Amino acid sequence: MSLIEPHGGKLVNRIVEADKGKALLAEARAFPTIKLSEREQCDLEMIAIGAFSPLTGFVTEEEFYTICNDIKLPNGLPWSVPITCVVKSADADKFHVGGKATLLDDQGKVLAILNITSKYSRNKDLEAQNVYKTMDKAHPGVAMVYDEGDVCLGGPIDVICANYEPDFTEYRLTPAQTRAMFEEKGWQTIVAFQTRNPIHRAHEYITKVALETCDGLLIHPLVGKTKSDDIPADVRMKCYDVLMKNYYQPSRVALSVMPSAMRYAGPREAILHAIIRKNYGCSHFIVGRDHAGVGSYYGTYDAQKIFDQIDQKLLKIVPMKFEHSFYCKACGGMATAKTCGHDKSNYVFLSGTKVREMLCAGQLPPAEFSRPEVAQILIESYRHAH
Ligand code: ADX
Repeated sequence: MSLIEPHGGKLVNRIVEADKGKALLAEARAFPTIKLSEREQCDLEMIAIGAFSPLTGFVTEEEFYTICNDIKLPNGLPWSVPITCVVKSADADKFHVGGKATLLDDQGKVLAILNITSKYSRNKDLEAQNVYKTMDKAHPGVAMVYDEGDVCLGGPIDVICANYEPDFTEYRLTPAQTRAMFEEKGWQTIVAFQTRNPIHRAHEYITKVALETCDGLLIHPLVGKTKSDDIPADVRMKCYDVLMKNYYQPSRVALSVMPSAMRYAGPREAILHAIIRKNYGCSHFIVGRDHAGVGSYYGTYDAQKIFDQIDQKLLKIVPMKFEHSFYCKACGGMATAKTCGHDKSNYVFLSGTKVREMLCAGQLPPAEFSRPEVAQILIESYRHAH
């Protein structure tokens, strides 16, 4: 048996070799430029390293519509969120189908060349309604769509440098590298865990239950752009590290980062997160309560239900669905409504706001909610921040 195939059958690599990179850099001066947003820079890195396989670039008009309308690429392969490169209407005249654009980072450094095969007006209402299920601009993902430019440029990219200042280099494995790591460890079934939070007891519980039926667990935190009140990735990385050292079986767990931006698109993003992990070589993917959700835009289990609409024969990576988990004092352990029939008064439930208040006040939340080593790191980070 071998590892799961990448989405579309082949791992994309859009990073050009050093010699070609030099030549491209010289050519790049001649093309009109686009300063990429933080979201687009994250997406560029994801495309470059093959984490968005089979995408070889930013989506074309045809792809934009099949993705928004049918959760598919034009060839029928599942894909749930359009990966766009956008410019303001006022700048759009500089760019033409058949031409090229030079993509820059926020410092003005050349990252890549976009070979423009499609130029189209971005149907923001359709994107908001179909991908985010709301047009409410209070939703952070929807706000991003409406804040960004109105004209999309699609086509393959040739990447000279995917990211000039990457964080967490030691943990920044490409899909090819995680695949090599799994092969080396002799793992064939690997369950991936997406997270944008510190790992609390409920997360720990579902990852360990999932690991019981797989060879290995990949803890795969998203470290791309997140909203400003999410806990910064550097603080989270310290939490993952301390937890792995103290509470996981080291020979069965790997930690690596995933450089995509967060969209908070709930169900649609759960599908994207699963496809990404398939590219990294994972056979299974954890989907718990309100996966990639924000506020009350999505039902608690909508991100699980959407997998029923996707052709599993094409998706292949298996979603592992978990109910809302909590500590039950009567059970003396972690549980869900599936495994515990005790009265709710036994459950340790803490709202995010309550936890933040405790951490800000330097108080440890109960050990049934968070491991003390993790809470201590969070307390220190709040102390620094204020
Ligand atoms: S997310 O935006 O990355 O989904 P988070 O880091 O909180 O946010 O969640 C990571 C994963 O754990 C998601 O699959 C989410 O559904 C799941 N999850 C979070 N909290 C719980 C919980 N109490 N019970 C079950 N699953 C949970």
